[in-house]
Amino acid sequence: MSRRKNAKQQEALTMLIFGGTGDLTHRKLLPALYHLMAEDRLPQDVRIIAIGRRKKDDAGYRGEAEVAIAQHSRTGVDGKQMARFLERLFYYQMEFIKEPDSYRGLWEFLDREEEAADTVRLFFLAVAPEHFGPVVTQLHEHGLAEYGNPRHRVMIEKPFGSDLDSARELNRTISQALLERQVYRIDHYLGKEMIRNILAIRFGNSLFEPLWNHHHIDNIQITSTETLGVEGRGAYYEQAGILKDMLQNHLMQMLALITMEPPVDLAPESVRDEKVKALRSLRLFDQESACQHIVLGQYGPGEEMPGYRQEEEISPDSRVPTYIALEAHVDNFRWGGVPIYIRSGKRLDRRRTQIVVEFKRLPGVNSFDTFRDLPPNLLVIEVQPAEGMYFQINAKRPGNDFIMERVELNYSQRNQYQGNVPEAYEQLILEAFHGNSSLFTRWDELEYSWRFTQSIEGTCQEQVAAFPNYASGSRGPEAADQMLSRAGRQWWEIELPCQNGHCPAD
Ligand SMILES: NC(=O)c1ccc[n+]([C@@H]2O[C@H](COP(=O)([O-])OP(=O)(O)OC[C@H]3O[C@@H](n4cnc5c(N)ncnc54)[C@H](OP(=O)(O)O)[C@@H]3O)[C@@H](O)[C@H]2O)c1
Repeated sequence: MSRRKNAKQQEALTMLIFGGTGDLTHRKLLPALYHLMAEDRLPQDVRIIAIGRRKKDDAGYRGEAEVAIAQHSRTGVDGKQMARFLERLFYYQMEFIKEPDSYRGLWEFLDREEEAADTVRLFFLAVAPEHFGPVVTQLHEHGLAEYGNPRHRVMIEKPFGSDLDSARELNRTISQALLERQVYRIDHYLGKEMIRNILAIRFGNSLFEPLWNHHHIDNIQITSTETLGVEGRGAYYEQAGILKDMLQNHLMQMLALITMEPPVDLAPESVRDEKVKALRSLRLFDQESACQHIVLGQYGPGEEMPGYRQEEEISPDSRVPTYIALEAHVDNFRWGGVPIYIRSGKRLDRRRTQIVVEFKRLPGVNSFDTFRDLPPNLLVIEVQPAEGMYFQINAKRPGNDFIMERVELNYSQRNQYQGNVPEAYEQLILEAFHGNSSLFTRWDELEYSWRFTQSIEGTCQEQVAAFPNYASGSRGPEAADQMLSRAGRQWWEIELPCQNGHCPAD
């Protein structure tokens, strides 16, 4: 912490947001930057330059930013802090595709504004994916982001490519302009508190690591479900679907963190090396095996909710999946034979991102009648809406009779750090400013995630032909339950218990 404070005092930061008038900037980036500044986590010498095409001046942009921050900040806003923040916020108008000369103007603007020679330049590309390559190339060609300059860093939003080939092509373009260590590919799940906690839980407790293998774990379930539909982003979703919106990035990252081997140390490259090995070990699907182990779905209308095909910008006969459940296998010595069930979908009955590790049951012992049919031990890591961890064990109910019952050991971050858990984008911006890439995706992680995702694409055409196959607001397709029940298992729907009168989902 103190090292960070010192570093912060010495450094200067210019944050340039391409897409400064867009949705992501208003909902996430401006509130994140406001909090970072209010909590004194950015250097004194900081300027935030929002870049957009629309004509407006600094005052007009500041007015919009103030409204957006008040609306989306995780706590209330403080007038004095807001004034301090707005003073450091600027708007720069440019057409970054059709008018390459505008980059020269931007260079001159920075030349005028940046005082310290060691200013860190953080370019945040909150723009459409097809603009990532052209913008990076122009930044390089106009000397705004110099090749190999460690102070010039580019943060790139998802999706990185639309398939393996286009991701490779994009990476080729970017690597002609920047070194890998200047590139910060965002998967905002990596900035979430409980995702960051996975390594701490796994490697900071003597209890778990010895049991973290096929001898003791029956299966792992990774769930990330939403109640929302496409929310005005229909055109994007028609291109992405659940595979590219969730599976290829967030779910693959969770899988990698939960199954990777212990790294030699906690340096970003060491952690990423182990994640890559886990992703490389994923068994790929083929046309034949796919549909026994994959369930695809698309939501139809539900109670007062439109179906996917009735949403704006969606084709009335769209075959894009909005739901997936699958059984994955990490084929290595640690995990051989352990199914890793993954499910994710839109317009479901609940919003929840959760990892459940189900431990093997004890062998039945005839003379231990009372212990027969006990539920398994479960470790639950909840990422959202609650942030916490829960361990389910079995114990004796108090009283004269010897009756077993389920007991929950529960830890909820919300209770202990209410209102103080930073948003993912705060962490990501801060880490990129400090040059720490551990919360970002390295190219080879993406490459193996794409390889796995691509092995699913085009499979299960019979399921696709039956779309829509679940109602809005439901639990999703029944076939997902059947996939587990065929194997004698079930999806766990764990509700984190309330603590001290405070319920996690409040
Ligand atoms: N929104 C989200 O919740 C979300 C979540 C995760 C990832 N992402 C990713 O984040 C990126 C941005 O998403 P978004 O939803 O914020 O997009 P958006 O609302 O459509 O914003 C796009 C931005 O790009 C600017 N722009 C487009 N073409 C331009 C040009 N030729 N010259 C200058 N500026 C141009 C727009 O400026 P003008 O408006 O001034 O024309 C606008 O500021 C996308 O890659 C998306 O996949 C978004």
